[in-house]
Order: sequence, then C-alpha cells, then structure tokens
Amino acid sequence: MKLNMLKILGLMGVGAMGLGLATAPAMADTAAMVKEKCAACHGMNGQSKNGKVPNIAGFSVAALTDMLNEYKEDERIGDKFKPEGGTETNMNAIVKDMSEADIKAYAAYFASQKFVANKGKADVAMVEKGAKLHERKCEKCHSDGGTNPEDDASLLAGQHREYLTRAFEKLSNGDQPMPRKMKKKFKKLSDDDKKALIEYFVAGGGAK
Ligand code: HEC
Ligand code: HEC
Repeated sequence: MKLNMLKILGLMGVGAMGLGLATAPAMADTAAMVKEKCAACHGMNGQSKNGKVPNIAGFSVAALTDMLNEYKEDERIGDKFKPEGGTETNMNAIVKDMSEADIKAYAAYFASQKFVANKGKADVAMVEKGAKLHERKCEKCHSDGGTNPEDDASLLAGQHREYLTRAFEKLSNGDQPMPRKMKKKFKKLSDDDKKALIEYFVAGGGAK
C-alpha cells in the first residue's frame, strides 16, 4: 500500500514536471516566481534599489506571511508603483489571487535572503535624537535597533528615507493599521520625533 502510494506520487511528480506544472513550489521554482512577480520592485535579493520600495530580505517568515495576508484581505492598502519598464500596480493586486501555499513560498524565499541594513547619509543630530526615542518607545518590539527578525515585524533599520517617510505618514493618518501597543506610543510622537526616528533608521538603526 505504502509502496503503491509512493509510486503514484512519483508518477504524478514526473507527469507534473513534464507538463511544467509544480504542485508544491520548491525553492528553485520559487526563484522563478519571484523573478516574475517581485523582482522588478524588490530585487531578487529583497534589497530594493528604489526609494519608494521597502527592503524585505531577512524578515521572518511569520512577518512576511502576515503582511502579504494583510494586503490580500485589503486590511492594508499598498501604494501604486511603476517599476522601470514594468506596469503600474500595488501590493494588493499582486497578492489578490495568491494561494496560501504561494504566500508561504514567497515568505520563505525572502526570509532566506540576507538582511543588509543600508547606512544612508543622515542628519547626525537627528540620528542621535532618534536613537534615544527608539530606545524608549520602539526597541521593545523593533529590537536591536530594528534589525532583529525574531520580532516578527518589519526590519526598519536601513530602509530608504522616502519609503519610511511614506510609511510613517500612513501610520499617522490611519491608512495603515498597527498593533494597539505601538499605537499608544506612536500617537504621542511629535512631527519632529518622527523625523528623528526616520533619520535614525536611514542611518542604519542598530546595525553594526
Ligand atoms: C510594482 C512594484 C512591486 C511589486 C511587483 C511587488 N512589490 Fe511588494 N511592495 C511594493 C511597494 C511600493 C511596497 C510599499 C508598501 C505599500 O505601498 O504598502 C511594498 C511592500 C511590500 C511588503 C511589506 C513590507 C513592509 O515592511 O511593510 C512585502 C512583504 C512585500 N512588498 C512583498 C512582495 C512580494 C513577496 C512580491 C512578489 C510576490 C512583491 N512584494 C511584489 C512594490 C512592489
Ligand atoms: C508593541 C510592539 C510595538 C511597538 C512598541 C512598536 N512597534 Fe512598530 N510595529 C510592530 C509590529 C508587530 C509591526 C508590523 C505590523 C504589520 O504586520 O503590519 C510594526 C510595524 C511598524 C512600521 C511599519 C513598517 C511597514 O510595514 O510599513 C513602522 C514604520 C513602525 N512599526 C515603527 C515603529 C516606531 C517608530 C515605534 C516607536 C515609536 C514602534 N514602531 C513601536 C510592533 C511595535
């Protein structure tokens, strides 16, 4: 019985491969999916060259899965973006028809890419102010200065200024949901505090 099942599965596998169909995507297939669906904006390695697009390399599988599901359920609305030579779209349209297995495959792929925090040019005084604010208000959940994937949140260190500015704006005006405990801290930030935190992350946050 067991042998027969294996034989059947084996035959199905061969058949599926022959037709160019894969049932459960393996890493190699996922790379092809990423090339087609994500790379134009996020790069193959998840380190975006475009200021409007976040880096997603090395985030945890759980964080990536949650975010993709938030877009799928329209709990979070992505900005429209047109990559060079590509078509304009947003994250919601991209994940709309994705299966749970696809979402897991993309999440696993980008989680396995190396996290690199860019160290962008930033205002030194603001970076210092931002570091102190971060320590008091954000470090608990965005630990090691926004570099620790075990938090299961976005890695904020080294993101582009343009992206962070927009993300802070969406959080401030309620266009993007955030955890209740984060909201408590976030809503007390002044505009200057927000700028300082952004400069801190642009400079690389807690990255060594
Ligand atoms: C057309 C450009 C484009 C493509 C293609 C694209 N993205 Fe995005 N992605 C963005 C932009 C812009 C954001 C910024 C956030 C927003 O608008 O909500 C984003 C945000 C994200 C986020 C949230 C990161 C965070 O820290 O909040 C994840 C996760 C993500 N994308 C994964 C993917 C995956 C996986 C694919 C391929 C299946 C993909 N993206 C394809 C442009 C794109
Ligand atoms: C109680 C834990 C907690 C605290 C405190 C907290 N955050 Fe967050 N933060 C999260 C989680 C979890 C997410 C991911 C939410 C999601 O999946 O959409 C997040 C997301 C974010 C994002 C969104 C990035 C994106 O995906 O576009 C920014 C920016 C951010 N936090 C900044 C801050 C700042 C600045 C502070 C301090 C003032 C702070 N957070 C405090 C837990 C927290």
